[in-house]
Amino acid sequence: MKKIYTGKTKDVFELENGNVLLKFKDDCTGKDGKFDPGENAVGLTIEGIGRENLKTSIYYFNLLKNAGIKTHFVSANIEDATMEVLPAKVFGHGLEVICRLVATGSFVRRYGKYIADGTDLPGGYVETTFKDDALGDPLVTKDGLVVLNIMTPEMYDSMKAQTLEITKIVAADLAKKGMKLYDIKFEFGYAKNGEVILIDEIASGNMRVYKDGKLLDPMDLTKLILA
Ligand SMILES: Nc1ncnc2c1ncn2[C@@H]1O[C@H](COP(=O)(O)OP(=O)(O)OP(=O)(O)O)[C@@H](O)[C@H]1O
Ligand SMILES: [Mg+2]
Repeated sequence: MKKIYTGKTKDVFELENGNVLLKFKDDCTGKDGKFDPGENAVGLTIEGIGRENLKTSIYYFNLLKNAGIKTHFVSANIEDATMEVLPAKVFGHGLEVICRLVATGSFVRRYGKYIADGTDLPGGYVETTFKDDALGDPLVTKDGLVVLNIMTPEMYDSMKAQTLEITKIVAADLAKKGMKLYDIKFEFGYAKNGEVILIDEIASGNMRVYKDGKLLDPMDLTKLILA
């Protein structure tokens, strides 16, 4: 097994069958020992969190599969905290897709003159940012992605449509459990034939979720999702 990438929260290996193996670590992004999914550095280690994030990802990838949405998920080994996935190319040097159902966080920092924190964004609002720690993950538009030759307009449209559909499914699952999804972050990649699919993970660190008007921390959220 060849290691091809050392990520902040996962290591990536190449398998002999051509697939990719993601090894979930117990490292979390954050600052000064406090967990923060928005941080771009490893800030703390929480015993067992890698396995919990894997379980959450398996849960959601299966939910999507049952809804007829193809993702990179192939299989998992919870004991080893590993997930076998289809190999995908990432867009540019990595792209994050955010879907917002409620305005908060950086959206309100940017657009607070026009919208109050906590306002519903019916149907969901999609935005894309480059994974670039040094530049603080800058926003990029569809036109930007096309002009930079990172994707075709059709690929963007597919990615956006999938983002809205996947967000709806996750939000409905959380609502069933008494929670409200505010926003969620995804990664997409593309296969050799150009097909755009959801990759990486869907775990508590990728979403902002409220219960009884209070923001849930990732540990409590994980427990409620997997209950
Ligand atoms: N199916 C796949 N094929 C190829 N690479 C993948 C696939 N799924 C996920 N990846 C990549 O594996 C890496 C996992 O690393 P990790 O989650 O630790 O994130 P990172 O790159 O350090 O940064 P960040 O914290 O910003 O997500 C990511 O770079 C992600 O793009
Ligand atoms: Mg990541």
